[in-house]
Amino acid sequence: MKKQLSVILFILLMILQSCSKDVGPVEPDSDSNNQVSFKNDVQPIFNNHCISCHPSSGDLDLREGHSYNEIVGVSASGYSGTLVVPGNAEASVLYKKIDGSGAFGSNMPLGGSLSANQIKIIRDWINQGAKNN
Ligand code: HEC
Repeated sequence: MKKQLSVILFILLMILQSCSKDVGPVEPDSDSNNQVSFKNDVQPIFNNHCISCHPSSGDLDLREGHSYNEIVGVSASGYSGTLVVPGNAEASVLYKKIDGSGAFGSNMPLGGSLSANQIKIIRDWINQGAKNN
């Protein structure tokens, strides 16, 4: 009887252990899975969807070589808020202008919208610290 009990305890212990193995280390947030590059991932979106209007519209120049310094930590000209707050997409006017929320007037690109994946790239880039990488 005592032996049976210890066998049961042993099995229980193994089950518990395998459970804790399954959980493993906490999965990193999906935002941190892939390092987004400003140069290779974000700027091409600006090139294809924004610079037809944004060397000038909204007092915003998104052309390569200008864009980073125009948006990171810079106050929006038409709204009260910062265009890109490093580490906080939800607090960034530029992100709220593309996410379909309408939180700051018209969605961008004006008259259209970015794909879900393009929106995610910009969100991840901001949430990863908006690096000039
Ligand atoms: C067809 C022209 C057009 C395109 C394309 C366009 N925009 Fe705009 N954008 C405007 C106009 C006009 C304004 C000013 C009115 C407003 O704020 O909605 C503006 C304003 C903005 C502002 C606010 C700037 C500020 O400081 O107040 C942001 C941010 C912005 N656009 C981002 C983008 C992004 C990012 C893209 C590309 C995904 C884009 N826009 C594409 C016309 C455009």
